[in-house]
Amino acid sequence: GKGAAMVTAVAYRLAEQSRQIAQTLAEFQLTKAQLLEVKERMRAEIQRGLSKETHELASVKMLPTFVRRTPDGTENGDFLALDLGGTNFRVLLVKIRSGKRRSVEMHNKIYAIPLEVMQGTGEELFDHIVHCISDFLDYMGMKNARLPLGFTFSFPCKQTSLDAGILIKWTKGFKATDCEGEDVVGLLREGIKRREFDLDVVAVVNDTVGTMMTCAYEEPTCEIGLIAGTGSNACYMEEMRNIETIEGNEGRMCVNMEWGAFGDNGCLDDIRTKYDEAVDELSFNAGKQKYEKMCSGMYLGEIVRNILIDLTKRGFLFRGQISETLKTRGIFETKFLSQIESDRLALLQVRSILQHLGLDSTCDDSIIVKEVCGTVSLRAAQLCGAGMAAVVEKIRENRGLDRLEITVGVDGTLYKLHPHFSRIMHQTVKELAPKCDVNFLLSEDGSGKGAALITAVGCRLRQQEQQ
Ligand code: GLC
Repeated sequence: GKGAAMVTAVAYRLAEQSRQIAQTLAEFQLTKAQLLEVKERMRAEIQRGLSKETHELASVKMLPTFVRRTPDGTENGDFLALDLGGTNFRVLLVKIRSGKRRSVEMHNKIYAIPLEVMQGTGEELFDHIVHCISDFLDYMGMKNARLPLGFTFSFPCKQTSLDAGILIKWTKGFKATDCEGEDVVGLLREGIKRREFDLDVVAVVNDTVGTMMTCAYEEPTCEIGLIAGTGSNACYMEEMRNIETIEGNEGRMCVNMEWGAFGDNGCLDDIRTKYDEAVDELSFNAGKQKYEKMCSGMYLGEIVRNILIDLTKRGFLFRGQISETLKTRGIFETKFLSQIESDRLALLQVRSILQHLGLDSTCDDSIIVKEVCGTVSLRAAQLCGAGMAAVVEKIRENRGLDRLEITVGVDGTLYKLHPHFSRIMHQTVKELAPKCDVNFLLSEDGSGKGAALITAVGCRLRQQEQQ
């Protein structure tokens, strides 16, 4: 009768709806062949970044860091470190002791960087940074100490020495004016002078490099650093002879890959979806950091949000109503995505998280949202794994080995907080680089400690030069 017909119609509509949702999400699913292809493309981009002829135009910049070896335990002294470019801005005091009972002791304070400072002038930004250093020194009761300082500055910098780095381009939502094209150590030193105190800036350090150094201090097989956080990037020890952009052929040097820019030449366009394009277009740096925008914490939530908007428009979610909240950029922070995807969480709790974000959901809505999050983070972890597979394979070939055993030092909120990201990333590396045994070591507070370790070496080299 009529009732049965209606039930059939509803059932049909629901089936059609889930088919369409599945179809949308299928665009994010990558086959093993596709992931292998991503790995190969990363390999090719690594090569382009390293060679002299292609470097200028390469999207993966492979920047020399002037860090020539990992720590050996002889590092010693008290250092200041700054950490700018992650989730928090921090100032740290790091006390490193060498010898039999080697140890690292750290004190740190987190400071906010107000949005208007982040997006104001460079002078304002660096004045703020110096103000925070001065507050920290007060707080530690060491106003007059002239300590050597390591500056972890997690943006692409063209380095010409350990203590000079020209900012190539802001990433991750920073946009202070008058900084791009400038030496950030110079900007920091000028800020220090304006406040009329004295500090000795010894090194500028990318967070990946700090992370690698911190892990290598405990584990000598660590020769790769990885950040899966607000941004995404890696560094590793490359043979000097392969780094054609600087003089010298002996030994190794750590290279900051700046792999977030992978794809900026269009080489990932075949796997990018219209949602990735929307996220890119709405960002401060449209057309840039395309791989990072598929892999890192700052953007995963944005991809999710764009999918949810589309599904809502098509009437599959939130009763077809696009709320103001859903229109708000940046609502799905890494910590929320991580909570939503946690297996221990009942759907009711997913609904309460959505509620907390200002999204009224039904039970069905919450199922779909969770599925969307899972799909987006799965792809992110796999893409990151494909990039890492390219790196370990490159090192294996450099060393002419049949098998490579190596450790990756890792840091970043996505890696640490997300319930599945790390496992899937590890799994992907294993599958795509079967000749490499890759260990992952979580770095605790890598950026600050690593900057201090590098500063220690920098100070020693300086003393040697003066002798
Ligand atoms: C961005 C920066 C890079 C940094 C990464 C992780 O990709 O450009 O320098 O290492 O974020 O913080």
